[in-house]
Amino acid sequence: MKMLWSALVALSSIQCNAKNFAAFSHGNVERGGIIQIQKRMQAWNIDGSSSHRPKSSSHIKDWENATGSLRNNCSFEDCNCTDPSSLVGGHVRVLGIGVCIVPICRRCNYFRNSLRFQDTNGNNSYLRAYSELMKTDFTMDMKNAPRRLK
Ligand SMILES: *[C@@H]1O[C@H](CO)[C@@H](O)[C@H](O)[C@H]1NC(C)=O
Ligand SMILES: *[C@@H]1O[C@H](CO)[C@@H](O)[C@H](O)[C@H]1NC(C)=O
Ligand SMILES: *[C@@H]1O[C@H](CO)[C@@H](O)[C@H](O)[C@H]1NC(C)=O
Ligand SMILES: *[C@@H]1O[C@H](CO)[C@@H](O)[C@H](O)[C@H]1NC(C)=O
Ligand SMILES: [Zn+2]
Repeated sequence: MKMLWSALVALSSIQCNAKNFAAFSHGNVERGGIIQIQKRMQAWNIDGSSSHRPKSSSHIKDWENATGSLRNNCSFEDCNCTDPSSLVGGHVRVLGIGVCIVPICRRCNYFRNSLRFQDTNGNNSYLRAYSELMKTDFTMDMKNAPRRLK
């Protein structure tokens, strides 16, 4: 009986977790450098990312390849963009996680869009719950870039 029960538990956890994610910090889950956030998380566009080259022809293709998902919507919760042709792989800094690439629309990725600047009072934009984040490098150019703050 006990064995049957553990087999059922194992089976149901596979079904609920098709991508076999493991536990990660802040209650999130991770698999091979991809973090799926389980709740909304604060994030802002990181400066100095333009010199960071993708592995393939674009950051969004790298994200799709790494996650096994297709770009579907802008990851910023207050943005409703679902046009795939407008979605790019944007470099964001996720509070408590670090620099990641996520699908965001061109409008949210625009360097003058102050909604996506880091807010010194902590009133930052949020990425929507269940977004998949591709962890990436915090490059020297990102470290040295002047910070655009609001
Ligand atoms: C695509 O994903 C595969 C499997 O994760 C990986 O081995 C490969 O390096 C990736 N290719 C690119 C261009 O990122
Ligand atoms: C955004 O895309 C995700 C992943 O495909 C989907 O689960 C979710 O329902 C979409 N949300 C909105 C608000 O479009
Ligand atoms: C996004 O969609 C919601 C629900 O349809 C709507 O209330 C909201 O105003 C929209 N936001 C933007 C920025 O268009
Ligand atoms: C926080 O940011 C949102 C979005 O920009 C804005 O609407 C809201 O007024 C801000 N709240 C405070 C307390 O500054
Ligand atoms: Zn957007």
